[in-house]
Amino acid sequence: MSASSIAVPAALLEWYDDHARDLPWRARPGAPPPDPYRVWLSEVMLQQTTVAAVIPYFERFTARWPTVGDLAEADDAEVMAAWAGLGYYARARNLLACARAVAARGGEFPDTEAALRELPGLGAYTAAAVAAIALGQRAVVVDANVERVVARLFVIDESLPGARKAIREKADTITPVARSGDFAQAMMDLGARVCTSRAPACLVCPLSAHCEARSSGEPERYPVKAPKKAKPVRKGRAYWIERNETVWLVRRPDKGMLASMRALPDDGWSARGDGSGHMPRDGEWLSAGTVQHTFTHFTLELQVLVWRGGECSDPAGPTGEWWPAGQIEQAGLPTLFGKAARLVLAQKEDAGS
Ligand code: ADE
Repeated sequence: MSASSIAVPAALLEWYDDHARDLPWRARPGAPPPDPYRVWLSEVMLQQTTVAAVIPYFERFTARWPTVGDLAEADDAEVMAAWAGLGYYARARNLLACARAVAARGGEFPDTEAALRELPGLGAYTAAAVAAIALGQRAVVVDANVERVVARLFVIDESLPGARKAIREKADTITPVARSGDFAQAMMDLGARVCTSRAPACLVCPLSAHCEARSSGEPERYPVKAPKKAKPVRKGRAYWIERNETVWLVRRPDKGMLASMRALPDDGWSARGDGSGHMPRDGEWLSAGTVQHTFTHFTLELQVLVWRGGECSDPAGPTGEWWPAGQIEQAGLPTLFGKAARLVLAQKEDAGS
């Protein structure tokens, strides 16, 4: 019952023909490949972010910047603001660098996986995904969903992340030459909908007859994970300074956490001296409470302090602007500061002020 290099893709593609998710960056199963720009953009957005969260961002980006050339000409700050809420902002900066590199070569993406890999910010995963999905070339595409499916099919006993090499090698053995883009997306859909982390639906799985983890009776055991280390907790403060129904927002430094994003001023919690922590310590600050946000390497508890010290001139520190408090959702704040703003605004609404 071991996974065979012909039977697995055949069974999976047959299933995909009936069960493919209809997603805005996709071609229907078997149809000609979609525009590389749309595939590349979707794949960058989908790293670390769910399909459901990505769809509205993808729709907005492609409406506003329909081609890679349009994106290349976009204003950095506008792209960062449009990305706000998706997280992992280095992706947005790399996105622009890559769009500009593609525009500089005439607006066409390179036509091989190896050449795609040379573009700024385009890692092994994205290059393989674009080559398979947009160029119809055979490429081994392994994201977290595929990792789970493969680790189960072949009962890979080594734990992640060490198992990645073995998983890739096994994925290579079942990747077909024909319809390699459909195959990659079928693996993703299977992982997202059937071969789920918990309670996998083996009864309806098109690969169950080939799956060694299913035969073992413990599919959920795979992929084996090394015990998670608890994330450290850091504490910080953000400042809400209001004047005539506008609030003081700063532009963060262009290096470090949430670089170049519009933000509330803060005490430099991210810092290592990134120069953003210049708020006056004296005066009347009232605490609106704390919001919590988890980044890749730590959890931040951010206390939000509201200025009660009367009329305020432009605070010292990074350059800023007075932004209409009622339109804070349009400021393109990263999620952390969006949470902080909503905390203050909800309290003001409760207080009827
Ligand atoms: N996750 C990453 N890429 C994907 C894709 N093309 N379709 C569905 N989920 C994905």
